[in-house]
Amino acid sequence: NWKMGNFVELEIARIRELVGPKALVIGGVSGGVDSTVGATLMREAIGDRFIAIGINNGCMRLNEFEEVKRNLQDHLGINLTVVEASELFLGRLAGVTDPEKKRKIIGSTFIDVFEQEAIRIEREAENTPNSGKVEWFLQGTLYPDVIESLSWRGPSATIKTHHNVGGLPERMMNGQGLRLIEPLRLLFKDEVRAIGRQLGIHETLVGRHPFPGPGIAIRILGDVTPERVEIARKADHIFISMIREAGLYDQMSQAFAGLDTNRSVGVFGDQRVWGYIIILRAVCTKDFMSAEVFNFDNAFLQEVSRAICNQVDGVSRVVYDLTSKPPGTIELE
Ligand code: XMP
Repeated sequence: NWKMGNFVELEIARIRELVGPKALVIGGVSGGVDSTVGATLMREAIGDRFIAIGINNGCMRLNEFEEVKRNLQDHLGINLTVVEASELFLGRLAGVTDPEKKRKIIGSTFIDVFEQEAIRIEREAENTPNSGKVEWFLQGTLYPDVIESLSWRGPSATIKTHHNVGGLPERMMNGQGLRLIEPLRLLFKDEVRAIGRQLGIHETLVGRHPFPGPGIAIRILGDVTPERVEIARKADHIFISMIREAGLYDQMSQAFAGLDTNRSVGVFGDQRVWGYIIILRAVCTKDFMSAEVFNFDNAFLQEVSRAICNQVDGVSRVVYDLTSKPPGTIELE
C-alpha cells in the first residue's frame, strides 16, 4: 500500500518544508492515537520546535492527563504541557443543550486557549535557541472527520461538526492567526494505527479506543454541569475497567458510558430515588463511518449495571444502547 510504505518519510519531509527552519508549532495532544501519531511525526520532523499541549477542558476521563503525560514522556520522550481550563470550558457550556452549539463552543474555546498559549510560548522562547513565532497549529484530523463535518451537498448534509474541523473560528479558516497543519487528514483510523506502529509507538497507545476532542461533553445528553460530568466520568471508568478486566477491550473498537438528559425513578433499600440514567455504548467498526453494536454476554452487562448503581451516587438505571451506525452515530451527540 503506497500510503503505508513511505507515508512517514514523505510526511516528515512535507512538514519540514511547510514549517521552514524557524517557526514553532503547537499542537493539542489528548493521548489518543491520532494526536499521539501527529505529535510523534512533528517531533521527528522539527524536534523541540514542536510543543505538545494538553488542554484540560473539564470533560476528560478520570485521571486522563496524568496517564497521558506519563505515557508520552516514558515511551516517546514528548514533554506535555497541561493547561488547566476546566472552569473556562464548563463556564461557557453552562446552560447549553444543543449538540452543535456545544461542539462549536468547545472548538472555539480550544482555539482561544491555544492562542493564549502561543503568546506565552513565544515569550518564553525569546533569547533561547528556539526563539521564533508560533505559526502553526497541529491537529489530528482524520479523513472521516473531514467527510462528516464538511458538507459538499449543502448545510443539511453536515452530520456533526467535529470539533477540529467545522468548529474552528473564521480567522483560522481565512489564513489569519495560527495556520493548520494536519498530517493525518487523508487517513482512516486503521492506517493511523499502522503508522503509529511504524513509528514505534507502544501498543497500549496505538490500541486505545478513540476518545473525541470534546470529550465527555458529547456523551452527556443536554446540559453539561460539573456534577453530570462527574457522574458520567465515574460510570465510564467502571465500565471500561470491567471491560479491560474481562479481557474484552481489544475485541471492540470503542466503548463508553454516557448520561441521559432525563432522570428515572428507582428504589434503594426502602427509599425512592429520582436518579440519573447511564447509557452504555460499545461498538465494532473498521472505519468509524459505520459500526455494529458489540455483543456482550448479558450477565456481564448486568454486573456492570450493578457496579455503576452501587458505586456512582445518584444513578438508578443503566441501559445498553443497541443502535448500529447508521442510524445512530457512535457518540451520543
Ligand atoms: P460519530 O459519533 O461521528 O463518531 O459516529 C465517529 C468517530 O469520531 C469520533 N468523534 C470525534 N473525534 N472530535 C474528535 O476528535 C470530535 O468532535 C468527534 N466527534 C466524534 C468518535 O469518538 C468516533 O470514534
